[in-house]
Amino acid sequence: MALPEGFLEDLKFRNPVEDVISSYVSLKRAGSNLVGLCPFHNEKSPSFTVFPATRGFYCFGCGAGGDAITFIMKAENLDYIGAVEHLCKRAGMEMPEDDHAGRRGDSDVKKARVYAANRDAARFYHDMLSKPEGQAGLAYLRSRGLTDAVIRRFGLGFAPDEFTLRKNLFLDHMLGLGYTEKELLASFLCAKSQKNGRLYPIFRNRVMFPVIDLTGEVVAFGGRVMDDSKPKYLNSSDTPGFKKSRTLFALNYARHACEERLILCEGYMDVIAVHAAGMPGAVATLGTAITAEQARIMARYTKEVVIAYDMDDAGRRAAEKAIALLDGVGVRTKILKLNGAKDPDEFIRKFGADAFRLRLDDSENQFDYRCSVVIASHDLEDFNDRMACISELTALLSTLHTDVERDVYIGRLADKLGVSRDSLKNDVTRARKRQEKTQKTEQTRRQIQKTAGYGDRINPDRAKFRRAASAEESILGILLLYPELLSETAGGAEGLREEEFLTAFNRRVYAFLLSCTAEHGRFESGYLGEVFSDEEIGRITGMQVAHTQLTRNDMSVIRDNITVLREEGAKEKQKSTDLSADDLQNLIRSRRGE
Ligand code: CTP
Ligand code: MN
Repeated sequence: MALPEGFLEDLKFRNPVEDVISSYVSLKRAGSNLVGLCPFHNEKSPSFTVFPATRGFYCFGCGAGGDAITFIMKAENLDYIGAVEHLCKRAGMEMPEDDHAGRRGDSDVKKARVYAANRDAARFYHDMLSKPEGQAGLAYLRSRGLTDAVIRRFGLGFAPDEFTLRKNLFLDHMLGLGYTEKELLASFLCAKSQKNGRLYPIFRNRVMFPVIDLTGEVVAFGGRVMDDSKPKYLNSSDTPGFKKSRTLFALNYARHACEERLILCEGYMDVIAVHAAGMPGAVATLGTAITAEQARIMARYTKEVVIAYDMDDAGRRAAEKAIALLDGVGVRTKILKLNGAKDPDEFIRKFGADAFRLRLDDSENQFDYRCSVVIASHDLEDFNDRMACISELTALLSTLHTDVERDVYIGRLADKLGVSRDSLKNDVTRARKRQEKTQKTEQTRRQIQKTAGYGDRINPDRAKFRRAASAEESILGILLLYPELLSETAGGAEGLREEEFLTAFNRRVYAFLLSCTAEHGRFESGYLGEVFSDEEIGRITGMQVAHTQLTRNDMSVIRDNITVLREEGAKEKQKSTDLSADDLQNLIRSRRGE
């Protein structure tokens, strides 16, 4: 999206980086900078630093860095344009629109129009509940135990059965509001008939669940049939303003309520029932298994997730996946055991909110759950199966970190399996020794790779061209800090050219500096988010920060580093024209007739 000249300058001027960040992190002054505990990784002493002068931030612990826009991208889990919008709203500025603002380049419909259409559609569906055509919907929602207050809070609604009614209620309404055919198609509200090319509404004769994102926009819908017909739910596909894999139903409410824990449910109805029962921390994925992105989003809001899935086979597998993903982002997980009901909605309807709350408080932790899954999958009466079960449990037990935990569980499981505690303990100790050994080997391997410079995902060439890379980074660091030096660096016959960079990532950064300056007159770090990922921006900020702390940052330093870079470049060229040592030896051998 092409933002108007000076827009990002203005945006950042009106959103001082220290103000923006201080609503997320408590910052203390340290000289001309501010420091605090990094919100992007766990730490006990502050290495997260905000630089008001350069309008950036950088964490010396985890390498996260950037400007106010990058910060919002990470903190609110928004993409670049989303973060720009967020800051616009924060400062009360108007978000510029341009003619081809396809958010993900897959549509030429403006995202703002998609949101507006969704909001008007949501209002239409909701209003239907008080119209004759919508009474079936209202009756259905009430039959599911929902009060008017809950219906209103979640903005539930009804999409009328237009084909049977032979009326174009929805379409007429939306066209009447000025939405174009293209916009209604892009919003996934309408589709086009293959037969006669006419537009028709996608959601018909369904109760409607609007999905609202963290900025309060209606981004999608789920629509449920009111009988047993198929498909039971219809969900919006990804649109220019919606990515299913990054969205959680009801997180807009839950995020304000969930310091303690989030409750991850499978369905819309479960989430609503749990909220209605007075526990506003429930969220759900949108008809798909949980993704890594969704796990990361949850990790921003809580340290503990209670998984409240159906306990059929599919639910169990889904729970395993959720545990693994949440584990990976440092979130504790517990499994909710609902006996006598298939899902939270049904449980609350049958046994009441208090019973549910009790269950929540003593929900099994992940470890108990894993053990019970292993035990349930074996026939303990069968000798071989029982041995297999014990060996799986031994492996599981050996993953516990503290002696106390291991002792507790060894005791419990030994009793359950009818084996002696000592023999189970011996097995576990042996398994731990084996694991430690493989872990050590793995650690050494990683250490070796790291020192050799492998595993630098951002700039893999760095290992090969150490001296050149550090010269490149000095050049870039100074230019990022003083963009006005770019014309002298790149200009003239002796100017530094993009191709002279030896490492691919640094070359990209330099190319970006050049093209950004050509396009906008001046480099502005706010543009980085358009092209580079969070991690890459962190690396770029790191280069800049390294030079903030140096006293000599002038053209002469750039020139010295260009010289180094050119020396290294020449060496490389020489290498590729020289014969390699091996080649040479082969040549000599063949001459000798060996
Ligand atoms: N789902 C879907 N498409 C389907 C079935 C289910 O997208 N054909 C998604 C919906 O998000 C639904 C969730 O999976 O909310 C869970 O499905 P299910 O347990 O079948 O439905 P419930 O949410 O329990 O809905 P209800 O209680 O109304 O049956
Ligand atoms: Mn249900």
